[in-house]
Amino acid sequence: MQITRKISDDIVYVGVGDKRLARFENLFPLPSGVTYNSYLILDDKVALMDTADSDVTDQFIDNIETALEGRTIDYLVVHHMEPDHGANIKRLLDRYPQMKVVGNTKIETMIHQFFDVDLTDRMVIVKEGDSLPLGKHELTFVMAPMVHWPEVMVSYDKTTKTLFSADAFGTFGDLDGALFNDEVDFPEDYLDEARRYYANIVGKYGMQTQALLKKAAGLEIEMIAPLHGPVWRSNLEYFIDKYQTWSSYEPEEKGVLILVGSIYGHTHRAADKLAAALKEEGVSKVKMYDVSKTDVSYLISEIFKYSHVVLACATYNNGIFPKMADFIHDCQALCVQNRQVAIVENGSWAPASGKLIREELAKMKKMEVLEPQVTIKSSLKKEQEEELCQLAKVFAQSLKEGE
Ligand code: FEO
Repeated sequence: MQITRKISDDIVYVGVGDKRLARFENLFPLPSGVTYNSYLILDDKVALMDTADSDVTDQFIDNIETALEGRTIDYLVVHHMEPDHGANIKRLLDRYPQMKVVGNTKIETMIHQFFDVDLTDRMVIVKEGDSLPLGKHELTFVMAPMVHWPEVMVSYDKTTKTLFSADAFGTFGDLDGALFNDEVDFPEDYLDEARRYYANIVGKYGMQTQALLKKAAGLEIEMIAPLHGPVWRSNLEYFIDKYQTWSSYEPEEKGVLILVGSIYGHTHRAADKLAAALKEEGVSKVKMYDVSKTDVSYLISEIFKYSHVVLACATYNNGIFPKMADFIHDCQALCVQNRQVAIVENGSWAPASGKLIREELAKMKKMEVLEPQVTIKSSLKKEQEEELCQLAKVFAQSLKEGE
């Protein structure tokens, strides 16, 4: 059974949605699934843009076969070798013996790393600016190293003004029958998952993403066809602007993200008090999460969103509460930077989490610590309540700056 739709007269979407996978890369929860996008260009020559994850092979092959209507594939264009897109390369090489693979030299190397295949006379090596004529369509290749792996490239079809953008402009979440961004309520239903996808998957490579955005700015783009999530055919500036913000590590919104690592709830009470004091100060956006309850990928997404952060954290084994330590470690790995941060620590006999968090923040770029640092010993007392109110005033003032 074919489940395909066209993105233009002769380009068919042959990708597959997957709601069954629990965690992307066996790490990131997928409450609403993910799509593995692939596109078939049916021109004088037939080009398939990437394959799909092994979990969806049967449906993927069905989609291709139906869309081909008896034709065969001339070129498999490989933009990215991560197995969520490359898993079926060998299967397709076996199935379509005349098919050639189009990719750069790093892609060729990785194909050999992942598969035992003979690519003699079957590899078309391309580099920056090379073109592949298909008939009406002509693909031009643009290298995009480290968005998200070193071999990544994107391609541009000047006939339809489409950028096949690989992982860039991707989104977590299945599409429930939709294909285009204007068929869903993107800001309401997909933006958070798009940010979580960007921040956790590509977030480390802001500079490289900026480089790709610069190259893309030189192209006349009317459609963006990524490897996950909806195809963008309208309001492209909206999503490109989000990518500009995220990849430059600028906050998307002014607001306070409070992250709590609390063992018995006393540190949580201090965070509650601070949140209430922030509201008293007129701060409109305050979001609080318990780091033990919420998967770290959501917390990473939120720190990419908000300008100000509070880390309220118990001391544990003379160190940082483990779930908070995990979060900070992920922030460092993903190059999170340029945020205003406050620290609330707790410890019953030797509070140490504050000092240790401060040391970790010092290893990151442009993480400004707002004072005072508040120390709780076991439970919240009047004196610290006053310090928390003072901290709320500092935050409110800092949020106003630059308005
Ligand atoms: Fe969707 Fe980096 O793979």
